Amino acid sequence: MDIKAVILAAGKGTRMKSETTPKVLHEIMGKTLLGYVMDNVKNFVSEQFVIVGHHAEAVEKFVQNNYENSKTVLQSPQLGTGHAVSMVCPSLENFDGLVLILCGDTPLVREETLKAFVEYHKSSNSDLTVMSTIFDNPTNYGRIIREDDNSLKCIVEEKDATTEQKAVKEVNAGIYCLNWAKFKSSFGQLQSNNAQGEYYLTDIISWGKAQGLSVNAYILDNSDEIYGINSRLNLAEATKMMNRRNLERYMVEGVTIVDPDSTWISEDTEIGQDTIIYPATYIEGKNKIGKNCKIGPCAHLRGGVEVCDNVKVGNFVEVKKAKISSNTNVGHLSYIGDAELGENVNIGAGTITANYNPLTKTKSKTVIGDNVKIGSNSVLVAPVELQEGANVGAGGVITKTVPAWALAITRSPLKVLENWVKRQTSEK
Ligand code: UD1
Ligand code: CA
Repeated sequence: MDIKAVILAAGKGTRMKSETTPKVLHEIMGKTLLGYVMDNVKNFVSEQFVIVGHHAEAVEKFVQNNYENSKTVLQSPQLGTGHAVSMVCPSLENFDGLVLILCGDTPLVREETLKAFVEYHKSSNSDLTVMSTIFDNPTNYGRIIREDDNSLKCIVEEKDATTEQKAVKEVNAGIYCLNWAKFKSSFGQLQSNNAQGEYYLTDIISWGKAQGLSVNAYILDNSDEIYGINSRLNLAEATKMMNRRNLERYMVEGVTIVDPDSTWISEDTEIGQDTIIYPATYIEGKNKIGKNCKIGPCAHLRGGVEVCDNVKVGNFVEVKKAKISSNTNVGHLSYIGDAELGENVNIGAGTITANYNPLTKTKSKTVIGDNVKIGSNSVLVAPVELQEGANVGAGGVITKTVPAWALAITRSPLKVLENWVKRQTSEK
């Protein structure tokens, strides 16, 4: 059965207290909250609709630049989660499959979880399935209210809940799967007579029950996955949860993480066996690291980095959009950006690929062949190429191609003035 996703991303995110960035474009280790949600569904839905409103242009641009088979739909003004979903009704008028509804502020839910959820929906012959979980501290989430026979009754928001309802620990994850044709007319019939004066998506449950449709809740065991981000505190907490999960995965796969408490590695990084990640290393965005590498301590990989096998990226080394081929060392205090490094290269301490021209605001590439050796404290002014086997003397400032097996040296000749210091002191 065809599945389409609707992702709610129009809300202001008031509690984030941000003037410049809509909530769903805040980042966890180099990837936006919305990016996590869209990546998790892109492999099993035919189309994604992202509801945009607050800072719509920025969110539209993000979706258009990064995702195929996706459309943005404007919700203005933003009158609640139910109103948000109603915005896709014209686009889905004749659709007769499943719609998976998700919130753009819940980045920890995993693809496997969503697939299992959809499978449950299908196998239980449900018309609407809501994902729920149990939280020790359910504050701020909608509470799942059940009938005497334990079947789903309704969802009550924190602000509308009675004291008794507030004590309920089963909460709404904000993830729904529904048979679209049966529910599409519900969205025009929602009411806003609640504490927030909003059209709540959660009210489609009562609507469905009144129509005699089958409405169920799917309880997710791992409650961490539905942690929603409403504030900067939540963002920091979610980043920690995501990181811990990633590090556990790497360790299980045979990567040594010397100090999980000070190491940060993004979900979209692949790491080969027997690689060692030393403390205080921060790896964000999409990267691929080979086998038997040593990374850090205090290394920073900023995304778009490919590190082959047996590579050393040492202390205080920053790497961005670069390929480092096997058996190459970038040992200390270097910046490697927009660069391609061959095999068996040695980059001396303090080497910089000067990739950015602040006058033209353009970036250029540095290409380094196999077996190149760069002396310490060198600046490679891009665009520039160092061909196979070339050497650069320490302190080199390289502005044009260095041919294969040549030595480039740019320092002024060393002068040694014998007894100069003694002469200075004896004259006084
Ligand atoms: C919502 C649910 C709550 C659930 C929680 C899970 C409702 C009424 N409440 O509450 O039951 O426990 O999520 O995290 O659905 N949005 C729009 N347009 C709007 C309003 C919101 O697109 O007009 C988007 C937001 O950008 C956000 C999502 O919908 O991505 C959820 O909105 P939010 O205000 O965060 O809802 P919660 O109060 O967290
Ligand atoms: Ca929320």
